[in-house]
Amino acid sequence: MNYRHQFHAGNFADVVKHYLLLRVLHALQRKDKGLLYLDTHAGRGTYDLARAAHGDTLERQPEWPAGIGRLWSAPNLPAGLQDYIGLVRTYDRQQGNLEAAPRFYPGSPRLVSGLLRPQDRMALCERQPDECQALRAALGRTPRCLIREEDGYQALRALLPPPERRALVLIDPPYESQREFDDIVNAVEAGLRRLPGGTFLIWYPLTLRARVDEFFDRLQTLELPPTAVAELAVAGEDSALKLRGCGLVVLNPPWQLADEITPVLGLLAGLLAQGTGADGSWRWLVPER
Ligand SMILES: C[S@@+](CC[C@H](N)C(=O)[O-])C[C@H]1O[C@@H](n2cnc3c(N)ncnc32)[C@H](O)[C@@H]1O
Repeated sequence: MNYRHQFHAGNFADVVKHYLLLRVLHALQRKDKGLLYLDTHAGRGTYDLARAAHGDTLERQPEWPAGIGRLWSAPNLPAGLQDYIGLVRTYDRQQGNLEAAPRFYPGSPRLVSGLLRPQDRMALCERQPDECQALRAALGRTPRCLIREEDGYQALRALLPPPERRALVLIDPPYESQREFDDIVNAVEAGLRRLPGGTFLIWYPLTLRARVDEFFDRLQTLELPPTAVAELAVAGEDSALKLRGCGLVVLNPPWQLADEITPVLGLLAGLLAQGTGADGSWRWLVPER
């Protein structure tokens, strides 16, 4: 396993994922009842963007300038995007950055940890030992936070259903394995069996359209609850970019999320474009009943 999120932290894909994650969490927290946040592929929780330019042996082009860098000082953003940028800014300052440009970027566990209510819990899974060690250093003292160095797909089976009977599950794998889509479909099937009303967010890369459509087809062989796809392409299909976009499949999206998210995806397509044909869209795989 070679994947290190460090090199990608704060890129356009993180922006879309983290913005959407926070909106979904916010919507679920409108109800008082507590919930479990389960991050099956948690990463190290905190990233130093200054280190993203250095690989093990090679200099790399950092990805964050075309992601969080584009939004950092953008004026007149909608309230939900401002909330997300505000959290990143606060974290960056807390970590000691005094410069105008961002330096420290919070991963999904860190973003969520600051928003947990006393009745909420979080469980974070990270299989890579050194990444998990860093995660423990970053979040090990967070109240009601369980950190597990193990396969997130197995943990999902062990941790669902939670006693709260409410959960937000983020499945955010690195897609290094040929089996990743199979593993996701199997895990979603197991997850829905255990908690049919759970909200699942599955991040996917937009590389080949056909590959992504095949993934959706396979998901649709399951008995899905209302399910939507929020997608952002930073360039059109003829782009030479290796990663020309990404998306999140949202199972059981909170009520009215679509109304809020759809215009913001369009706005993000403009802000994060890397070529012609950038586009943001929300569509239903299984419509709300
Ligand atoms: C895309 S990163 C996660 C980023 C994080 N969710 C965020 O948004 O800040 C994927 C992580 O999953 C870890 N990983 C890979 N396979 C895993 C598995 N089967 N179970 C748990 N973690 C895994 C990798 O080591 C990597 O740190």
